[in-house]
Amino acid sequence: VQISVAKSGGNVTTSLQYGVMEEEINHCGEGGLYAELIRNRAFQGSTTYPSNLDAWSAVGGSALSLQNLSNPLSSALPTSVRVEGNGTSGLTNVGFWGIDVRPQKYSGSFYVKGSYKGSFIASLQSITNGEVFATAKVSSKSVADDWVQHDFTLTPKKTAPSTNNTFSLTFDASKASGGSLDFNLISLFPPTWNNRPNGMRRDLMQAMRDLNPKFLRFPGGNNLEGNSIDGRWKWNETIGPLKSRPGRATTWGYGETGGMGLVEYMEWCDDLGLEPILAVWSGLALNRQVVSKANIGVYVQDALNELEFLTGSVDTEYGALRAKYGHPEPWTIRFVEVGNEDSLNGGASSYKSYRFAAFYDAITEKYPDIQVIASTLDITLPGNAGGDYHLYDIPDNFVKKFNLFDSYSDEHPILLGEIAATEWNNGKGVDWSDTHFSLYPWWLASVSEAVFLLGAERNADKIIGTTYAPYFMNLDSYEWSPTMISFNANPDDTAKSTSWHVYSLFNDNHMTNTLPATSNSSFGPLYYATGLNNKTNSHIFKAAVYNSTADVPVSLTFEGIGRGTTADLTILTAPSGFSMNEVGGPNTVESQTTKIKAGKQGVFSFSLPNLSVAVLTTK
Ligand code: AHR
Repeated sequence: VQISVAKSGGNVTTSLQYGVMEEEINHCGEGGLYAELIRNRAFQGSTTYPSNLDAWSAVGGSALSLQNLSNPLSSALPTSVRVEGNGTSGLTNVGFWGIDVRPQKYSGSFYVKGSYKGSFIASLQSITNGEVFATAKVSSKSVADDWVQHDFTLTPKKTAPSTNNTFSLTFDASKASGGSLDFNLISLFPPTWNNRPNGMRRDLMQAMRDLNPKFLRFPGGNNLEGNSIDGRWKWNETIGPLKSRPGRATTWGYGETGGMGLVEYMEWCDDLGLEPILAVWSGLALNRQVVSKANIGVYVQDALNELEFLTGSVDTEYGALRAKYGHPEPWTIRFVEVGNEDSLNGGASSYKSYRFAAFYDAITEKYPDIQVIASTLDITLPGNAGGDYHLYDIPDNFVKKFNLFDSYSDEHPILLGEIAATEWNNGKGVDWSDTHFSLYPWWLASVSEAVFLLGAERNADKIIGTTYAPYFMNLDSYEWSPTMISFNANPDDTAKSTSWHVYSLFNDNHMTNTLPATSNSSFGPLYYATGLNNKTNSHIFKAAVYNSTADVPVSLTFEGIGRGTTADLTILTAPSGFSMNEVGGPNTVESQTTKIKAGKQGVFSFSLPNLSVAVLTTK
């Protein structure tokens, strides 16, 4: 295939290009990114919802009972646990399907109520053989009628052989008045990313940062929408002290504590240099409840309050609240998405007729610099509004959509807010009625995604950015596969998927401008995008080969680039189209970079094998 790339005539591309989509699904936050190790720490419910003793059990002969006391820890956390016994008593937690123990400092705390003159023992120990890895003796400050917080640290001397470990908190019940004490908000964190209190799990942040993403779309996804209007994701219930966060039932069948809230999302953006794409609730819940036109103003105001909380000066009501919670400096929000998939679940007509317009008008009036994005393209977009496009499909259909954006105008930018090849080629498309979705991305699917991404890169002036979804999965409890990154309780097992490697290669070789190309052959089985990076002054060719019966020879020229110019050519392949990167397993994606030189008339000659993804950059 001969390809000649012109030296001008292209477009300026999006600076965001590839990012991350996050919502609470697959225990990606609770039991994942959010580094809290104690599951069901405040008896808000965990795998089921609401209040229960999930993940807890009694130590020795003691008994645990849930209590809704007349003087609870807080109105947000009304349920606590009473531990009753004789002698050594307490409770133990199995974590999020294991607890990773290694020689590092674990910071813990708990609230207790009841008259007690002794001390507490916090410990980490093996379930397999009872070996104790660390203990801390905590002197009691507990009193009869009030909740008192106790802090402690645990520092194991060695790495536990597995994550089959528990956390225990015990006391001498014979020294407690009435032989019992009440506990709540029992928490334990390992060292977190940037050592933030209430922070994020280091290995997962690292796996994300290694991919060099540019934006974060949050907090959903279906989880933003809620199972009912009242069950929606409420930003104001995810801020402030942890004891003020009530938690909620996610839409994915388990509870969330609210510990990873709005501020934590923004800190995540700060820590990884991500552009926030904030989704606000749009008046549609998954049970098809829709807010009427008469009442939509309440929720529009709530979105404006949220924006004031994030961006307002400390002289505003909500800006002052942000300052009170430790962030006097306002954040900048440039993108707001209104809802999620509002063309589904009975939301289409109300979204088209009044819901989107109500948010768009109010947000653009108060914040003219914010790019408002509709959660669907199935709507006539007003002004400069953008739209969100989601694609879950079989690999062949990803390839068929290579040209999808060629016919779009750049009037209304598109967010590719959820993208994933989910099940094997079946000659049709995704079968939503059953569960054929692959557990992990597999190489053929990742190459098909690359073809689709190249189609988007060729039109990158029309696109805000692209993200895989869902992004994370805890293999011990998940609802939706495949995902970009998979993990369990052991950070050493975290798997960057085959798709991760494709996105990473494309992201590391960002084109600031597209350049038009002509060829002696039409697209397929070789698909490509061409352009340059005007910061590094490098010309770029990105390609994928899908469904070829032989290697594809390529003769590539860039207008103005002469004989002898060198380039790096990186080619990704895998042992087979079925290769997957599994939790605890090896990386199956092979990456080979060679230096090549332009020959006569500046031609770069090379060939690309079937099911390969490649990038050539001139030096
Ligand atoms: O990514 C999983 C789900 O797929 C999202 O929550 C929803 O937006 C989409 O339907």
